[in-house]
Amino acid sequence: MTISQRRRLRRAEVELAPRIGLIRPTRNGFRVSIRLHDGQAPEDYTRVLDRLAHAWRVHSVRVLSWRPGRVTLQATSRDPLTQVRIPVCSDGLLRVQVGLLETGAPFVVDFRLVPHWLIAGATQSGKSTLLNAIIAGLAPQPVALVGFDLKGGVELTPYADRLSALATTRAECAALLADLVAILGDRMRACRDRRVRTIWQLPEQVRPTPIVVVVDEVAELYLMADKSEKEEIAKTSTALLRVAQLGRAFGVYLIVAGQRVGSDLGPGVTALRAQLTGRVCHRVNDPETATMTLGDLDPAALAAACQIPPELPGVAIVSGGDGRWYRARSAYISEEQAEQITKAYAQMRPAWADLKATPAAPVNPVEPGHPVIEQPAQAA
Ligand SMILES: Nc1ncnc2c1ncn2[C@@H]1O[C@H](COP(=O)(O)OP(=O)(O)OP(=O)(O)O)[C@@H](O)[C@H]1O
Ligand SMILES: [Mg+2]
Repeated sequence: MTISQRRRLRRAEVELAPRIGLIRPTRNGFRVSIRLHDGQAPEDYTRVLDRLAHAWRVHSVRVLSWRPGRVTLQATSRDPLTQVRIPVCSDGLLRVQVGLLETGAPFVVDFRLVPHWLIAGATQSGKSTLLNAIIAGLAPQPVALVGFDLKGGVELTPYADRLSALATTRAECAALLADLVAILGDRMRACRDRRVRTIWQLPEQVRPTPIVVVVDEVAELYLMADKSEKEEIAKTSTALLRVAQLGRAFGVYLIVAGQRVGSDLGPGVTALRAQLTGRVCHRVNDPETATMTLGDLDPAALAAACQIPPELPGVAIVSGGDGRWYRARSAYISEEQAEQITKAYAQMRPAWADLKATPAAPVNPVEPGHPVIEQPAQAA
């Protein structure tokens, strides 16, 4: 027996020809299921997808799904993101179809599934356009929209007809965040009184309206010109973090957009970023920003983010917190279109004063000190 044969006996052999199943054509390429050899794992394929794309002469190959012993690959023959024609539309409560994934599936922002989102990217990479799409998709829904526009209001003021509140300076932001924290407190109390954990378990007639908070250019919230601002920044930063931490259960959702969202902005930013599970990374100028946005996802995702060309604004790497990532592009919704849509649905805007009002009194308030869970008698 030769040395190489002996080595092969001791190790799992992975460099084997793939056992290719039926090739199924799709609209933009094909799908193929592959049986794994003993000792192979889906990672053996994820590592070589680029090479497979070149070998098969297609634009890209991605692992679509896997189950024990089998992976399904999807090859796309041309980049479906060069032209995105999918309409932006509301797709159920707090769900918006905002664009297209590279796989051909719609790119959906679902706040019930992923409550908070971070949208990052260099200037002119498509952040505000994605916000336009999200706002346009949410406008017809029974949802309150709140804007924090740290660009002095130039981005979100056109949508003011549909916004329940809009803050454009740091002082206004601080006041609005204090209101939001108070609203969270009220909702917490309402849930506790009815012995439920989230507003979604409350009866429909007393359930408070969900609030989606849109923050554009978040870095401006943290930038300090001189020491006198330190206290105000610390206050806003803490309040924003509290909204992120407590929001999910009490129907307050965040979308935070910025060019860079890193610890260099100050204390509190890293903790805030950790709460923003949904990540959208547009074109970036440096790999650090991609790492900052996408975290420790697959290095291939970071490489893909750095390869987004400037001539394709709106293209981004998207991860919904389940560890999988996709190349995606938002549908183009211009400011004018978004403004028209927000004007058309202006009557759906809940008044800020109504949102701030304490929710309806509970039917059976729980007395303080009253045990919420009856302890079962101990078995002898
Ligand atoms: N999904 C898209 N499809 C086509 N064009 C897009 C898309 N997204 C953005 N663009 C184009 O790119 C331009 C810049 O986009 P946008 O204003 O959203 O960038 P930004 O990241 O918000 O930039 P800034 O950081 O300067 O605010 C838009 O005016 C539009 O022409
Ligand atoms: Mg912008």
